[in-house]
Amino acid sequence: MFITLEGPEGSGKSTAARHLAKWLRTEGVPTTLTAEPGGTPVGEEIRRLLLHIRSLSDDLDPKADALLFAAGRAQHVARRIRPALGRGEWVVCARYLDSSMAYQGGGYGLDMDELRELQAFATGGLKPDLTLLLDVPVEIGLGRKRRDRWNRFEDTESAVFFERVRRTYLDLGAAEPDRYRVLDASGSVDDTDAAIRELVTPLLHG
Ligand code: TYD
Repeated sequence: MFITLEGPEGSGKSTAARHLAKWLRTEGVPTTLTAEPGGTPVGEEIRRLLLHIRSLSDDLDPKADALLFAAGRAQHVARRIRPALGRGEWVVCARYLDSSMAYQGGGYGLDMDELRELQAFATGGLKPDLTLLLDVPVEIGLGRKRRDRWNRFEDTESAVFFERVRRTYLDLGAAEPDRYRVLDASGSVDDTDAAIRELVTPLLHG
């Protein structure tokens, strides 16, 4: 199984992914835990490059941005995700192609069909079996984040941008109900962990 966790800033994806992977291992499921941007040495370099570029200016063209994320993703799929799945492991990944749809598409306004083609190229068509969308109202998500090194916006601009990101995630979920499960992530970490386990338990013995 290939499980991804998605959601806007401050939705708790990385904590939830860590807890899910730990729990799967205690259930006897060999699990690779990984995340984007990053996940491989090359991907980490691209992540650092993106952060560096964004710290210098906010002038990165959205297409260049999308291609850099896609480059990291191609490497991640080829060198880490497919090999792990090939060994029979489960893969739990915080952020994957839906992040590009939500941020570069919903947030920065790139054409969704073109972006979809780019994702298909980068991943060779590898889609998650299950995507957990940790949904959280924008005010709560941004309130949980002390600082954001990724996005240089003024407050009102941020709220509008992240509202579009959240809305796009919900639309993506509605368009692919078989792959997506939407969870309310505005409660405690334990609440989110429990909701995720409930969704994943039936897959364990299937
Ligand atoms: P985040 O999960 O916060 O990563 P980190 O823990 O490495 O800081 O994600 C980093 C940012 O990158 C976040 O604002 C979402 C953005 N992002 C995209 O815009 N497109 C993508 O394809 C991915 C994977 C992330």
